[in-house]
Amino acid sequence: MLEFLRSDIVDLTAYTPHPGGEMKTPLDRLDTNESPYDLPPELKEKLAWTYQNTLETNRYPDGSHAALKAAIAQYASESAGGLVSLKPDQISVGNGSDELIRSLLIATCLNSACSILVATPTFSMYGILAQTLGIPISSVSRKPDTFAIHLGEAEYALEQNPLIRVVFVVHPNSPTANKLTPDEIAWLRRLPSQLLVVIDEAYFEFSGETLLSELDEHPNWIILRTFSKAFRLASLRVGYAIAHPQLILALEKIRLPYNLPAFSQGAALLALENRQDLLGCIGTIQQERDRLYQALQQFPQLRVWPSHANFLYLRLQDAIAAHYPQSQLLDDLKAQGTLIRHTGGGLRITVGTPEENNRTLEHLKSCLGC
Ligand SMILES: Cc1ncc(COP(=O)(O)O)c(C=O)c1O
Repeated sequence: MLEFLRSDIVDLTAYTPHPGGEMKTPLDRLDTNESPYDLPPELKEKLAWTYQNTLETNRYPDGSHAALKAAIAQYASESAGGLVSLKPDQISVGNGSDELIRSLLIATCLNSACSILVATPTFSMYGILAQTLGIPISSVSRKPDTFAIHLGEAEYALEQNPLIRVVFVVHPNSPTANKLTPDEIAWLRRLPSQLLVVIDEAYFEFSGETLLSELDEHPNWIILRTFSKAFRLASLRVGYAIAHPQLILALEKIRLPYNLPAFSQGAALLALENRQDLLGCIGTIQQERDRLYQALQQFPQLRVWPSHANFLYLRLQDAIAAHYPQSQLLDDLKAQGTLIRHTGGGLRITVGTPEENNRTLEHLKSCLGC
């Protein structure tokens, strides 16, 4: 059947986020690292007003994203402590940062036999999108205690495979929540300029860590960010890339002309205008993350790692996992009402509201019999 399809696409496992359709029981959705807080009602009202009064649905949206790029350039410059002064021509906006990842793969590796380097476990979309484009992936491992990249392995992979053209890192990494170490950053600085270095800062607002101030010195670096996490706009799909204007120009050539609906552009602009209010809950999320971390450390059955993001990564101790697999724990938690993610050989739990986090702890206690 459907012989015209590429066999690698037929065999590919799709990314499956939230369970779709109607959920029988309401679940605490702690599986995709969203903010637990919706936009405040007054901002939704403003957005609705903009929609009703200024947005012409019969017209295409602004395909240049001019206003949004200017606002992002200003916010991103501020976010680097005023150490940089970005211009709109250093910004490209995508339908989620997923779109930008795909554009980067098209711009660098498609049809050229080149490949990408990732250190697993990491964000799975780099690999999935590369596979959909037929781009080979070189994987290196991370140190089991800290999840720092095995730099020796990475250097060896680059030596052995001159066709690697892009290196993907996440700062802090998903699902393991560790930020880049000084050694890893020093390695990125040493990478030759013919390699593209993608630094995904999707969780920047939770970590406060960015490499933006070094971008000028490294025209082969690109930083990705998103409105899906701290800015609470996951449903509207807005991500952005910051890089040298020539690299940005390549992304602009590849994207679809009207890749971002007017409503999404309006929402991202509104979120930036109201950033102080919206980012006001970051402190609460960080406190809740630390409370959850302390509480999870008290479970003898679990090993939990420190986090610089809005999620925690943990694994069942081997002795427990031998007779109670992590996939079973995932299902049992779901049956109790807490949805988390099983990925990279462990379990990733998004930090929710204090009530959701209390329920996560109760459900874990009940599943683990403590
Ligand atoms: C590291 C990382 N990058 C990118 C994304 C995707 O972000 P977006 O919603 O902007 O496509 C995610 C989403 O979970 C992520 O964890």
